[in-house]
Amino acid sequence: MNIATDELTLYLSDELETEKLGHILAGLVSESGQGLVIFLEGDLGMGKTTLSRGVMRGLGHQGAVKSPTYTIVEPYEHLNPPAYHFDLYRLGDAEELEYMGIRDYFQGQNLCVIEWPERGQGILPDPDLRIRLGSRGDGRDARLSAPTTRGGSLLARVGRQWQPQQGH
Ligand SMILES: Nc1ncnc2c1ncn2[C@@H]1O[C@H](COP(=O)(O)OP(=O)(O)OP(=O)(O)O)[C@@H](O)[C@H]1O
Ligand SMILES: [Mg+2]
Repeated sequence: MNIATDELTLYLSDELETEKLGHILAGLVSESGQGLVIFLEGDLGMGKTTLSRGVMRGLGHQGAVKSPTYTIVEPYEHLNPPAYHFDLYRLGDAEELEYMGIRDYFQGQNLCVIEWPERGQGILPDPDLRIRLGSRGDGRDARLSAPTTRGGSLLARVGRQWQPQQGH
C-alpha cells in the first residue's frame, strides 16, 4: 500500500457546496471507469449523507438518497458505474459485514461510498479516497486524502475542478 502523499482541504459554505463536491467526484469516477472506495468520516450531522447524495445525483440518480442506517447498504445498480451507499453507524460488530458478503461489493467497477467506515475497521478494504468533514463557521471543511495512487490522481483532478465561492 502507498502512503498518503496527497491532501486537499476544501471549504463547503453550505449544503449545495457539499453536493457540488459530490457531483465533481461522480464525474471523475464515471470518466475513469474504474472501481473506487470512498470513506466519508466526520461526526453526526457533518454532511456525509449530503455528499453521498451529490455523488448519486451526479451519476444520474433522480430519486431520494437517504442514509441506509438500518439496512447498512443501499444499492444504486442502475447507475454507471453501479454504486453502493453504506452507513455503518448502527453496525454492532465489524464481523457482521462478512455475513452480508461485503467483499462482493468491492469488485469490478463498483463505486462504494461508506459513511462511518470506522465501524467496519479490520473488515473493510483500504479506501482510495478518504474525506473527513468537520464544521467551520457556518459551513464545513472537507479534508480529502488519497491513500492509493488511483485516489491520488482523482484528488488532483478534484483540486483542479473545484471553484470556491466568492469570498472564500
Ligand atoms: N457545507 C455545509 N454547510 C452547512 N450545512 C451543511 C453543509 N453540508 C451539509 N449540511 C447540513 O448538515 C446537516 C446534516 O447533514 P447530513 O445528514 O448529510 O450529515 P451526516 O454526516 O450524514 O450525519 P449522520 O452522521 O447523522 O449520518 C443537514 O441539515 C445538511 O443540510
Ligand atoms: Mg448520514
